[in-house]
Amino acid sequence: MCPGAVSTSATAYREAWRRALEDPEGFWGERAQALTWERPWERVLDASHAPFYRWFTGGRLNTCYNALDRHVEQGRGEQAALIYDSPVTGTVARLSYRELRDQVARFAGALAAQGVARGDRVIIYMPMVPQAVVAMLACARIGAVHSVVFGGFAPHELAKRIDDAQPVMVISASCGIEVQRVIPYKPLLDEALELAHHRVGRCIVLQRPQVAATLVAGRDLDWSEAVAAAQPAACVTVEATDPLYILYTSGTTGKPKGVLRDHGGHAVALAWSMEAIYAMQPGDVFWAASDVGWVVGHSYIVYAPLLAGCTSILFEGKPVGTPDAGAYWRVVEQHKVNALFTAPTAFRAIKKEDPAGALIARHDLASLRTLFLAGERCDPDTVQWAQQQLRVPVIDHWWQTETGWPVAANCRGLTPLPVKPGSASVPVPGYDVRVLDDSGSAVAAGTIGNIVIRLPLPPGSLPTLWQNDEGYRDSYLARFPGYYLTGDAGYIDADGYVWIMSRIDDVINVAGHRLSTGAMEEVLAGHPDVAECAVIGVGDALKGQLPLGLVVLKAGVARPHAQLRQELIERVRQQIGALAAFRHVAVVTRLPKTRSGKVLRATMRAIADSQGYAMPATIDDPRALEEIAAALRPLGYAEGVRT
Ligand code: COA
Ligand code: AMP
Repeated sequence: MCPGAVSTSATAYREAWRRALEDPEGFWGERAQALTWERPWERVLDASHAPFYRWFTGGRLNTCYNALDRHVEQGRGEQAALIYDSPVTGTVARLSYRELRDQVARFAGALAAQGVARGDRVIIYMPMVPQAVVAMLACARIGAVHSVVFGGFAPHELAKRIDDAQPVMVISASCGIEVQRVIPYKPLLDEALELAHHRVGRCIVLQRPQVAATLVAGRDLDWSEAVAAAQPAACVTVEATDPLYILYTSGTTGKPKGVLRDHGGHAVALAWSMEAIYAMQPGDVFWAASDVGWVVGHSYIVYAPLLAGCTSILFEGKPVGTPDAGAYWRVVEQHKVNALFTAPTAFRAIKKEDPAGALIARHDLASLRTLFLAGERCDPDTVQWAQQQLRVPVIDHWWQTETGWPVAANCRGLTPLPVKPGSASVPVPGYDVRVLDDSGSAVAAGTIGNIVIRLPLPPGSLPTLWQNDEGYRDSYLARFPGYYLTGDAGYIDADGYVWIMSRIDDVINVAGHRLSTGAMEEVLAGHPDVAECAVIGVGDALKGQLPLGLVVLKAGVARPHAQLRQELIERVRQQIGALAAFRHVAVVTRLPKTRSGKVLRATMRAIADSQGYAMPATIDDPRALEEIAAALRPLGYAEGVRT
């Protein structure tokens, strides 16, 4: 749908949106001039292998050069590139563009000295410390492909990513810090390396003062020793289409998808997004309160702010508890943050502890121009509360790990549009967003359907999955030929605004973290007493959604259910990680299914959330639904459902 109904005064936005689709080569070719290329591209958009599209083929550049060296050479060397603010360690540190460039060059030299070369994969499993950013940029500097794994994932999940990416090295740290809890990372890494089939020859470990990691002789190197012995490495130019990173994300199965990102298209899209969407200029201070382990952290803590010459905040803390719900406002005031980007969950947590905004009122937030929210559906109440408290525009915008940058947003740097709470605003230039029904026909404005993006996707979006073209085609392109399937359901209203309502698959979103119920089902099914299971996402006032497990036990299992439930909860924590927040599991005698054996997950979700539901015509045994409702009530769900 063309966002043509958007006010006719929205000229800059409308013009950019139209041109990006009608003349993508002209539009993106101009945007690419903002970067430094070692060799210009031959084709802006290469459709020779459609539906696999490539951007800027033939061009050569280095992303790290564009993010750091270029700014130093152009006189921005003394400006802060990164401000590390860590309430959990009581640290605030400032790294200028020159200092960050020098640290990255040295660490890149350390990687090269260990034999890491262009195209090699390097896994980074680190907490929110500047060295995580240094490690990412150092890989980019020498053309190695990084794959950052969120620190909250358990060894089993880390091992899956090691096996898929086949890294030559893992970079980690001795610990992470969760509010007041120190979490040793090295034992988790050691376990993952044991579990993985792929053998990793080298690890570099940052020793943090809170915990000293035990290093394995012959395999593990101390970060500071590796750096002390290293010479700075120069930037290695790569093809624009070469991989910059792999970021694993949850799909419907337990096997995560390796989203691939290239160098050229990524740098062009991200640099432009800073001015067009976030209205940031070089020298402005941008704070994405996320984690480098997620796509938001990759794009808007690391690459985009640096490509755009901004100062980026790296915050090692939480919206509440470090030390209180005023932490965000302290950071905004202290570092004169111009734009804050976080997940709605963070705001719900702050609102819960400081409903009247007393802690907000204690701080001077004059520098703050805009609040951006993404990562999960944002309820209108949260948008309105944030607007009242902060008195700045609150912009919900929608994107995914796959796209790497926003698909729908209120482009503040083009034409600010009116805010409609609950909507992610309009398609960003480069994205042709449509809504199709299950047969592939376009639906009328306001009608819910499958949200798709007409191919080609713009620069910066995934060109494919890591070494898995077939998986890319099957997961995203096969359902509606000519379109990319986002996996989200929603509608576009008569004004062209996009409303994201839910997922069409078994992906859930817990506190802005994307998780697969399929992966949790695999873990539950692995318990020796479980015959069958299902995991569904249920509504939660704070975290948006929480996973809830339903298990059927094998015949003859007579152990107390309370003990079994505890074991299952612990199992998910151990195998996926605490971030799954898996706390609810009910034992039932059967799962509701269709006569062909398909588990009725959507109906169970509706029951758990006390929504109305129609008895599925194809249900095998209606009594199974009654049992589900009865089993969920003691857990605080399905209370409004009377069967
Ligand atoms: N390493 C180890 N463990 C981690 C971790 C990490 N990097 N990140 C989270 N965990 C653990 C937490 O300690 C917690 O463990 P617990 O169950 O033992 O308490 C669990 O994983 C869940 O963590 P989290 O989702 O952070 O929930 P919380 O209850 O600790 O905090 C909020 C609640 C709302 C403060 C928090 O969810 C939050 O800040 N949400 C915003 C998320 C966000 O910004 N997402 C970015 C996407 S844009
Ligand atoms: P991730 O890949 O982890 O960034 O998660 C992407 C998914 O999060 C999307 O497919 C949506 O389901 C959800 N999501 C992200 N941003 C929004 C938003 N602004 N509104 C609604 N859902 C969102």
